[in-house]
Amino acid sequence: MVATGILGTGAALPEKVITNFDLEKMVDTSDKWITERTGIKERRQAAPNETTSTLSVKAAKKALEMAGIEPEQLDLIICSTISPDMPLPATASIIQRELGAGTCCAFDLAAACSGFLFGMTVVDQFVKTGKSKYALVIGAELLSRYLDYQDRSTCVIFGDGVAAGVMGPVNSSSGILASEVHTNGAFADHLYIPAGGTARPATCETVQAREHFIKMRGNELFKVAVRSLEEVSRRVMEQANVHAGDVDLFIPHQANQRITNAVCERLGLPAEKVYSNINRVGNTSSASIPICLDECVRSGRIKKGDLILMSAFGAGVTWGSVLMRW
Ligand code: UT7
Repeated sequence: MVATGILGTGAALPEKVITNFDLEKMVDTSDKWITERTGIKERRQAAPNETTSTLSVKAAKKALEMAGIEPEQLDLIICSTISPDMPLPATASIIQRELGAGTCCAFDLAAACSGFLFGMTVVDQFVKTGKSKYALVIGAELLSRYLDYQDRSTCVIFGDGVAAGVMGPVNSSSGILASEVHTNGAFADHLYIPAGGTARPATCETVQAREHFIKMRGNELFKVAVRSLEEVSRRVMEQANVHAGDVDLFIPHQANQRITNAVCERLGLPAEKVYSNINRVGNTSSASIPICLDECVRSGRIKKGDLILMSAFGAGVTWGSVLMRW
């Protein structure tokens, strides 16, 4: 039985940096509040000519190069995004065309901040059954395009970024050991964009009412996030028969440093085993975990044989964990 592993990673961050001091000039906030309540100091913002697909192609090329795989060898492309280039077609189609990846299966997946782990879990099923050999999973978000820079409760948190992983069959002593993904639609209206879909198509009124921007009940989500992340992390460790003490590196979705700290305290994971880059990139939704992964792989923080736990929580609400041996 083969296992599914990550063969290469790549990331693409926009160059423009928005600091907390920049935000102080836009909304009633402060560097002190943002730092203490979220851990964020700065985030990236895409240039007007950059799109979800252009950054995805950059990240994908780096991941393919590291994996030593040609675009034509891909038989599956999943673009996890809630900020696509346009409503139709899927951003994955544009990425496939720009990469020259033939006519392989390519689709978008909308599971918000948990999307990369949802994508990895889908790929795992394709690879294990032999349906797919090499797959590209991308976490891609340009959330700045959906941020209301008059709403201090959201515009300070989110940032733009993209990262990709090439996945494929590996020796069964490595790769994905366990994964679990969940959705609870009861909280669907806790983090959403009210207009622009079939429920409220775009009109002059919806634009004037700022209904095309992200709305979030952050405080309520915070509690659900901590509980869900703890539970699902415990469950994948149980499935693989490992303990928190065995984990070499925990990569949580970078939602809020206080959420990460609370989850790690409950799981008994010491700070030196936890990766965080939220201070530099903010919350990049589905790009958050793969950006961390890419930084860890390229800096040597992840070594062959390491046990890696990744857990995410996001709009939907969605949550999940993937445990893998590198
Ligand atoms: O990505 C995955 C899905 N998202 C999440 O998991 C987000 C989870 N939630 C959070 O990260 C936090 O709830 C936030 C960072 C969004 C907010 O932090 P909080 O500690 O929960 O603050 P709060 O919403 O309870 O607000 C506390 C106070 C309020 O003022 P009053 O009513 O006490 O006077 C807010 O109006 O802080 C105020 N506030 C701000 N003040 C300065 C809210 N945003 C800001 C701000 N600057 N940017």
